[in-house]
Amino acid sequence: MLRELRADDLLELQRILNATEAFTAAEVEVAMELLEIVIKEPGQRDYEVAVAETSGKVAGYVLFGPVPATLGNFDLYWIAVDPAAQGTGVGQHLLAYVEEEVRRRGGRMVCLETSSQGGYGRTRSFYGKAGYQLESRIRDFYKPGDDRLTYVKRF
Ligand SMILES: CC(C)(COP(=O)(O)OP(=O)(O)OC[C@H]1O[C@@H](n2cnc3c(N)ncnc32)[C@H](O)[C@@H]1OP(=O)(O)O)[C@@H](O)C(=O)NCCC(=O)NCCS
Repeated sequence: MLRELRADDLLELQRILNATEAFTAAEVEVAMELLEIVIKEPGQRDYEVAVAETSGKVAGYVLFGPVPATLGNFDLYWIAVDPAAQGTGVGQHLLAYVEEEVRRRGGRMVCLETSSQGGYGRTRSFYGKAGYQLESRIRDFYKPGDDRLTYVKRF
């Protein structure tokens, strides 16, 4: 089940972000700042969140939004699923929701960025299976030897 973000989800989502072991402390901080913007600024239109629940428990979330000053381009900024719920289709469900919303609004494409490092191999296969194509690589973007990969899905 997917639903809107609530203020009392924040602690649990922080726990999930840390538990994935996919993000540095600085990345978790940025992820939390974006979630707080969604809670504290109900009028803003830059970021949207869908929270996934399984058996009444928060299982993950996705944060996305229209890329400012572009026509019909959306960015998938963050996606995380509780390790206890990974591999059960929650991520796919969250991704499908984003794509459905983007299409409903006449969006042309979804972009997302990820790291070339080994630990993200599973994430890259997740995006590949969902039809995202690697369209750019900036070498050493995150740190020497850690490239920024941009994946795109066009509608
Ligand atoms: C990437 C992530 C969101 C995927 O969510 P998920 O709920 O585990 O994924 P799903 O169960 O929907 O699986 C969808 C596809 O992902 C891949 N996948 C899922 N579990 C996998 C596993 N154990 N091993 C390899 N691939 C796997 C498969 O391609 C799978 O397709 P399949 O069902 O045909 O096998 C989740 O693993 C996660 O939170 N990872 C850490 C955070 C992260 O890397 N976020 C993205 C930062 S850019």
